Amino acid sequence: MFETISPAPPDAILGLTDAFKADPNPKKINLGVGVFMDARGKTPVLESVKRAELRLLETELTKSYLPISGSPAYARGVQDLLFGGHHPLIQEGRAKTAQTPGGTGGLRVGADFLSAFRPGATVWVSNPTWANHKAIFTAAGFNVKEYPYYNADTRGLDAEALFHCLEEIPATDIVLLHVCCHNPTGVDPSPEQWLRIADIAEKRGWLPFFDFAYQGFGVSVESDRAPLLLFAERGLETVISSSCSKNFGLYNERTGAFTLTAQSAEAAEAAFSHVKTAIRSNYSNPPRHGGAIVETILHDPELRTEWDTELAAMRERIHSLRQKLVDGLQERGLDRDFSFITRQNGMFSFSGLTDEQVRRLREEYSIYIVKGGRINVAGITDTALNPLCDAICEVLGG
Ligand code: LMR
Repeated sequence: MFETISPAPPDAILGLTDAFKADPNPKKINLGVGVFMDARGKTPVLESVKRAELRLLETELTKSYLPISGSPAYARGVQDLLFGGHHPLIQEGRAKTAQTPGGTGGLRVGADFLSAFRPGATVWVSNPTWANHKAIFTAAGFNVKEYPYYNADTRGLDAEALFHCLEEIPATDIVLLHVCCHNPTGVDPSPEQWLRIADIAEKRGWLPFFDFAYQGFGVSVESDRAPLLLFAERGLETVISSSCSKNFGLYNERTGAFTLTAQSAEAAEAAFSHVKTAIRSNYSNPPRHGGAIVETILHDPELRTEWDTELAAMRERIHSLRQKLVDGLQERGLDRDFSFITRQNGMFSFSGLTDEQVRRLREEYSIYIVKGGRINVAGITDTALNPLCDAICEVLGG
């Protein structure tokens, strides 16, 4: 059988990391995959994480299985992050959370769960969106279509086109929305635009599937979740995939969650039993370690404060890198306004570079960025900044 199989194309994002590793150029720069780096190019283990791990090492008594939906204490911690601890969704038992292997695992669990009830439905994703969204929903048997999102001329949200499309989507479909720090554009709806989106969701009745991979990388843990609270206020059913990869720096611990919110505790419970069915036939039950770190931090006031401070430091570093990138490009006298880079949220900047320019950056300068022009700003080290600005200038013909 294998003799007849031709190779699959490399992954649009993780495949770049492989190509980067194989590149012998000592000056190579990897701004592809969304991983935070410090000024010297390290992706550090947070101090709060280290301290939680030390505690776990001392207190862990067993390696026995977790329940199918993972650790209940982790689920409580995740719900506290998503809604705030005293939210009615939590107090009334209308939110149910499963620990999943990463945010990607949360998306796939959600997709498998929904496909049992909406087989062959359409999942609408933003144009553009994270390269893996289409693959995940297609693999779960959905049709995937795009709604308008980014306006390349204004480098902002194509709001009217977006609203218009959302108005046309039937109640049986699913709409994937990025809660904050939109990947790949860094362009998020304003609070007023979110109100409008929630209005349309309520009126049309389609199911919102929130992807929340960057909580705390926008403004703060609390501000970034505002869209979720807006939908909760209206009592709308939602599903949410969230991730601890970025905000806890737990990339390789694969720590995420799938949460559903329902209108009654009974409905939540019944729906969640099918989420567990989907998990059991996939990976059975989740790995423990990453979730144990997160619950240790979230349930200990001192570690929680330390984590908040460390998260703020990552966020501030990205903000300052955005400014440095804009200054660096502007200083080189390019006849373009790059200030839009400072208005984008999260790790990524949608640079406006064409695929041809992206190819040249890679082939001529060993600078790796994702096709479509997404730059991982959080990966720009002190030594990379100037060569990056020089190379962008060159490919832009400056
Ligand atoms: C990214 O978009 O770079 C990250 O979410 C990592 C990934 O899995 O693609």
